[in-house]
Amino acid sequence: MSQWDTETAEWYAEKYGNYDTNELGLEALTLFENATVVDIGCGTGCALRYASDQVTSGTLIGIDPVPRMVEIAIEQTADHPSTGRIEFHEGSAEEIPIENDTADFVFAFDSFDHWHNQALGLKEIHRILKSSGQLIVVKDGGLPNGSEAKDAFKQSLDKAGFKIKEEKDFKKGSVKCTRWIYSLDKQASRLMS
Ligand SMILES: C[S@@+](CC[C@H](N)C(=O)[O-])C[C@H]1O[C@@H](n2cnc3c(N)ncnc32)[C@H](O)[C@@H]1O
Repeated sequence: MSQWDTETAEWYAEKYGNYDTNELGLEALTLFENATVVDIGCGTGCALRYASDQVTSGTLIGIDPVPRMVEIAIEQTADHPSTGRIEFHEGSAEEIPIENDTADFVFAFDSFDHWHNQALGLKEIHRILKSSGQLIVVKDGGLPNGSEAKDAFKQSLDKAGFKIKEEKDFKKGSVKCTRWIYSLDKQASRLMS
């Protein structure tokens, strides 16, 4: 979908607001209790609510460009036990309203394909991640091995100074996804700066 607005936000929240990829993306993922987690294109905030089971004293920050989506995320998190530690803000991958070197984990769960400018989004994520931080990308349905789309995806991460740590497929019922975990490639980052 290229256009996200109030109408599509409400449609998405109704139909996919708690989509299984949010739970699958966190499967066997070790976060830590005082981590700062930033979810880019957070939708209804579902992934952050799952992450809060592990991040019991840290901060969870959801970013989405659609004001209505941010409102829905706030509404859906209001009664959650971790509500005080989960915040939502308007922003985009291309302009993340977060200071440099802040995030231990950045999530991009089914949002990468929706960014207007992926190279700029990755540059922004690079900026806000701590040097020890990790970017976790989830894609519903995955990407076929050997496909142009998969090659392009991997090349864009590589070019932006990220280094693959893990690529893994997950399945729950009829929902399948792939999760990629990236760390910062310090050598490439030095060359880029
Ligand atoms: C398919 S939904 C995924 C939502 C949530 N992460 C999930 O997995 O349920 C894509 C989300 O990306 C957001 N989005 C659209 N353009 C974006 C951009 N330029 N930067 C960040 N997020 C964007 C949309 O508003 C929407 O919430």
